[in-house]
Amino acid sequence: MMKVLNVVGARPNFMKMAPIIAEMNARGGAITQTLVHTGQHYDDAMSGAFFRDLGMPEPDVYLDARDGTHAEQTARVMLAFEGVVVAHKPDWVVVVGDVNSTLACALVAAKLGVRVAHVEAGLRSGDWTMPEEINRVLTDRLSHLLLTPSPDADQNLQREGIDLDRIVRVGNVMIDTLYSQIERAQRSTILDDLSLEARGFAVMTLHRPSNVDDPNSLRRIFAAVGRIARALPVVFPAHPRSLRRMREFGVEPPPGVKMIDPLGYLDFLKLWSDSKMTLTDSGGLQEETTALGVPCLTLRENTERPITVEQGTNQLVGLDPERIVAAAEAIIADGRPTPARAPELWDGRAAERILTALLSRAPCFRMKDGGRGAKCDNRPPGRGATS
Ligand code: UD1
Repeated sequence: MMKVLNVVGARPNFMKMAPIIAEMNARGGAITQTLVHTGQHYDDAMSGAFFRDLGMPEPDVYLDARDGTHAEQTARVMLAFEGVVVAHKPDWVVVVGDVNSTLACALVAAKLGVRVAHVEAGLRSGDWTMPEEINRVLTDRLSHLLLTPSPDADQNLQREGIDLDRIVRVGNVMIDTLYSQIERAQRSTILDDLSLEARGFAVMTLHRPSNVDDPNSLRRIFAAVGRIARALPVVFPAHPRSLRRMREFGVEPPPGVKMIDPLGYLDFLKLWSDSKMTLTDSGGLQEETTALGVPCLTLRENTERPITVEQGTNQLVGLDPERIVAAAEAIIADGRPTPARAPELWDGRAAERILTALLSRAPCFRMKDGGRGAKCDNRPPGRGATS
């Protein structure tokens, strides 16, 4: 029987891990799993609400590694996670996405000689100022199994010298959750609660440090959004970081921009899927809007998800107010519905393929008591190695 530690830490992890847990449970005797929550996100609105909405089991282990600088947060997760790996002696540690918890747990596992499977491997923005880009590159380098969502991710990994036999394109597991929850989300009363008409509003999310920690960037974004909101109300469920920065910098939401607390998965899905467009700096929303055909304006200069621009409904508009407003006006003027454009393998079955990939690899690195890896293969993952 294969033993797996599944790791989640922050909001965008939960919708990626939920279908993997469900699929592991469906495979019954082949696999035993332990769910570890690092506690990077801890507010009910940022964490608990997602567990309830997605029907996820309570975490088996909670590390309570909240807040702090990047170094503090990453170090706290590492210190706490090391004991968990030593105690559980798993065959695999499964990490998802690109948050600090992802890298912290991958690094601990690799040092202990335990194999890491990275779900959502290979995405690259090329922007080394983003903490997530650092997390992505390093997590991929530490992983034995790189489970990718799209061909661009495969190509990025090959360019970096990762062995082909470690790369498995499984598709986009977040879209598994989207498709499985879309019907339930229709029962959400969020539009009525906010007095909104379907397609009569836009939705904005904003939380990247480069956008919200810099007063000039924040003001430029709100200047543009204020102009859009004259024609189309904008609903802004605000991340705690964004709210704090707005208060610090004295930035008021312009008329027509409705600020609300962060929403759970189902209310938020209902809200954006019924919107006329989304404005965002989130990675996940670029993909989700592509899958359902909702126009998306990404308030960044680059994206690690270029497939959403090439094949989907996403436009990179940066922070120039003129460019943002022009793109929004074009969407408002175009009354036609946008077709859904899910790329290949964004089909609701990525978790099945992830499990198939995991189970097809015999456990190789086995830990000894005390946590030093007793390796049956001493070649490193990545460059020049074979499994
Ligand atoms: C993290 C991820 C980012 C992801 C985002 C989704 C990293 C480097 N970044 O960014 O990739 O898109 O989550 O939200 O891992 N806070 C609360 N309550 C919470 C969580 C956070 O109040 O439940 C506040 C705290 O003041 C905290 C701050 O938000 O210090 C930032 O949280 P943190 O997890 O460090 O980064 P995010 O900006 O959320």
